[in-house]
Amino acid sequence: MDKKILVTGGTGYIGSHTVVELQNSGYEVVVADNLSNSSENVLDGIASITGKKPVFEKIDCCDKPALEAVFKRNAGISAVIHFAASKAVGESVQMPLLYYRNNLVSLLNILELMGEQNAPHLVFSSSCTVYGQPDVLPVTESAPIKPATSPYGNTKQIAEEIIRDTVYADSRLKCVALRYFNPAGAHPSAAIGELPNGVPNNLIPFVTQTAIGIRERLRVFGSDYNTPDGSAIRDYIYVVDLAKAHVIAVERLLAGKNRKGVEFFNLGTGRGLSVLEILKEFEQATGVEVPREIVGRREGDVEQVWADPSFANSELGWKAETSTGDMLKTAWNWEKSLCSRNIQ
Ligand code: UFG
Repeated sequence: MDKKILVTGGTGYIGSHTVVELQNSGYEVVVADNLSNSSENVLDGIASITGKKPVFEKIDCCDKPALEAVFKRNAGISAVIHFAASKAVGESVQMPLLYYRNNLVSLLNILELMGEQNAPHLVFSSSCTVYGQPDVLPVTESAPIKPATSPYGNTKQIAEEIIRDTVYADSRLKCVALRYFNPAGAHPSAAIGELPNGVPNNLIPFVTQTAIGIRERLRVFGSDYNTPDGSAIRDYIYVVDLAKAHVIAVERLLAGKNRKGVEFFNLGTGRGLSVLEILKEFEQATGVEVPREIVGRREGDVEQVWADPSFANSELGWKAETSTGDMLKTAWNWEKSLCSRNIQ
């Protein structure tokens, strides 16, 4: 009875990997996605790994009646994992209202329906973007929340506040908010992975597309940061490790083990790597060279951020297990599989 989970954005990058882990752990999954930045074929990839296609509901979470109908058609949903959101930082600067609408109206609908439909558990996709450039590294969950540097980042901060206020007012509702660092890699089967829309914004898909020859060269944004090699530092976390944390978070909520109405966890490795270090690791792991040029900084980028994941390690019993090299190999295998299927 407690085993049916609604996953919004379940055909997206982190969502699809989480659906796989949920199904492999015996959960029944209902995916709700408007396919605005993903494809229905992802469901076949999930089925090829798990032997089962999740129930699919093509709806927009901003449409409350449609979302309500999903709860009604799939009676017994006990928890929601809410991934569905717009996530391109640069685009959010150009189209702030789209971001505020997509990311916040959908959350309001979900919180309202969780109360109305007696599905009181939420796992929320947050981001290390809420920390901005932290004063102290590695960053812990108690670090101050800095003013957001983009409308996208602001939606994550506001979303956390909306959740905090809502669970305070309605003690039935419980949430685990997961602050992701930089997700990367693909499922080891290469049946699902990241599918960037057009030219990738993010580093790893740009690296793999350059390595395979779709892009001429990678631009390394910034060489004058206050870091050992001058390029910016991030905490790259393997997407399957990240997905597993969602299963643990759901289990925690369903078992009533959460300590507060809303809990926040950093999901990272605890290891910061510069852009140049990532390129070196990629070349070592795959034997493929990545042509690059060093250019100026990208507007809005923070200089360096990596997680202190010790709270998630001790409280959730979760740890990032996959090495950077193995993670990058999966990203490369995924790129090759896309190429062989003529998808890019
Ligand atoms: N980078 C390059 N060249 C590229 C792309 C990226 O040098 O072509 C660099 C960036 O400047 C940055 C690093 O690689 O230093 C990582 O960039 P990503 O775009 O992959 O990731 P970000 O850290 O900028 O953004 C990610 C998520 C956001 C989230 C943010 C929080 O994509 O959703 O982390 O810090 F908000």
